[in-house]
Amino acid sequence: MKKVLLTLILASTTALLAADGASIYQSKCFSCHGAKASKAALNKSQIIAGWDAAKIVTAVNGYKNGEGGPMKAVMKPIATGLSADDLNAVAATIASFK
Ligand code: HEC
Repeated sequence: MKKVLLTLILASTTALLAADGASIYQSKCFSCHGAKASKAALNKSQIIAGWDAAKIVTAVNGYKNGEGGPMKAVMKPIATGLSADDLNAVAATIASFK
């Protein structure tokens, strides 16, 4: 019984972590897109602060499929490394930046 409980606790912690948009942003996006997404990444991207979540999800999925602007090769591996859940979570976080 103890073991079952422990497994359940571990599973729910992992689920929480997987969907933590703020920490995904901090670890995977912040270095280029800046605090609160207010920087043009590598001086090239559009500033994504103020974009709604759906627009961010569409753009990132586009990078997964090889679409995007002149610097799309930078975003492709990052986009590919995000699960759908992670992408939704991080998009919601970016959309909430003010
Ligand atoms: C290594 C630097 C770097 C990191 C890290 C990075 N980006 Fe980007 N991002 C860029 C560049 C450069 C572009 C512009 C690419 C192009 O030309 O289309 C871009 C473009 C974008 C765009 C579309 C904006 C536009 O110009 O059309 C979105 C949305 C985006 N990134 C989201 C993210 C998210 C979400 C993360 C974290 C999971 C992330 N990026 C991490 C460099 C980065």
